Amino acid sequence: MADHAAGTSTVRSFPADFAWGTATASYQIEGAAAEGGRTPSIWDTFSHTPGKVHDGDTGDVADDHYHLFRDDVAIMRDLGLTTYRFSIAWPRITPQVTPDELGPVNPEGLAFYRALVDELVGAGITPAITLYHWDLPQALEDAGGWADRRTAERFGEYADVVAREFGEHVGTFITLNEPWCTAYLGYAAGVHAPGRTEPLAALRAVHHLNLAHGLAAQAIRAAAPSAQVGLTLNLAWVRPATDGEADVDAARRIDGLQNRVFLDPVLRGAYPADVQADTASVTDWSFVLDGDLAVTHQVPDVLGLNYYSPTVVRRWDGVSPRESADGHGDGAASPWVAADDVEFPLQPGPKTAMGWPIDATGMRELLLRLHREFPGLELMVTENGAAYDDVLDADGGVHDVERVDYLRDHLGAVLDAVEAGAPVRGYYLWSLLDNFEWSYGYSKRFGIVHVDYDTQVRTPKDSATWYADVVRTGQLPA
Ligand code: FCB
Repeated sequence: MADHAAGTSTVRSFPADFAWGTATASYQIEGAAAEGGRTPSIWDTFSHTPGKVHDGDTGDVADDHYHLFRDDVAIMRDLGLTTYRFSIAWPRITPQVTPDELGPVNPEGLAFYRALVDELVGAGITPAITLYHWDLPQALEDAGGWADRRTAERFGEYADVVAREFGEHVGTFITLNEPWCTAYLGYAAGVHAPGRTEPLAALRAVHHLNLAHGLAAQAIRAAAPSAQVGLTLNLAWVRPATDGEADVDAARRIDGLQNRVFLDPVLRGAYPADVQADTASVTDWSFVLDGDLAVTHQVPDVLGLNYYSPTVVRRWDGVSPRESADGHGDGAASPWVAADDVEFPLQPGPKTAMGWPIDATGMRELLLRLHREFPGLELMVTENGAAYDDVLDADGGVHDVERVDYLRDHLGAVLDAVEAGAPVRGYYLWSLLDNFEWSYGYSKRFGIVHVDYDTQVRTPKDSATWYADVVRTGQLPA
């Protein structure tokens, strides 16, 4: 830090044992939606519903990783990665699950992930498995989905199956990916599967997701004692647009709904009182039953942070069109339960192809906040990256200079946090491959490897070469 700040050095080093990876998710890359005994998930239903996903895109084929995973592992080996974060599709493991019974384990589903894990281990790459990256079995949604507590109970049982099967070779089991998106984008804004716009269901989902984390963590700890338990949150670096009281209060509320409503029950064993008060018009939180908070209070061995962009909020005046830099503006259902008077002003400055403002400061500040509030808690960046409108050049390459700039800035912010003492153990770049970007379909490319969706040809972009150098040297070039 000192060298850097003084300008005497242009190269900065990561700790020698820093883990370097890329991240993906099952529905975004696997394809083979009807193969290997898999039954539909809520994302199959949602993407096949007209008008829900850009251009009618679906994950039916995606990157065909289900068949091409050996090639994809070879790419990661060539890049020198030490770890890979992927998710397991629950509908491949227990395709007949009902709200009351997990149902039989599907050997073909286990066999696919077994082959993937073996391939990774053979390539010297440590697997990190996410148990839930949004592809809920449709049968569970039909009975209420995450708004129904039985979904959390079945999830704990599914976690037990996966931990028993893979516990030996897997470094980390991450219970949930971004429960904020599951609860609020899925059940309040309706822009993610299952596409519901019911604020009460969203808050019930929040609690059942926290409960699901706790139940799964208990199952993993019992079945795979040598593995680490992780939880991945997309925490927001929330700042008020002004230091006026109304804006500061708006920032407190968004911090509560996005950050503390997940951090507190898991890390402190309690829901934040202000969030419960803020949402009193929607619910009295009576779905939190006696004993639940002892279950949610399963402190992970490593907390995963997903960070892409900063968040600025202000109190909406109720008259002018409601601004929403997060795409949930005037007229649309809001993900922000009981916060209809908060807006997200459009920010100046550079943006990615998602329209997301670029500011790596937020990554550093969030890591430092976690370190401050939860000393000793190990941290991991489980996603960070950027979409750009990449093109395959006439020379056969993809010269994604902007992505390299983005990654350099953000890895610099990670190093700032490390140098300030935050125990950040590794970094997973989102994403290995261009893939199905949820409601944006294939229109947004996040990969460091380009995918031609007609031929499934993979082409490493310049950012892949750049990242491989960082991984090899452990150094961040200026
Ligand atoms: C995160 C998701 C991931 C991907 C990136 C861009 O919210 O976890 O699947 O879509 O955003």
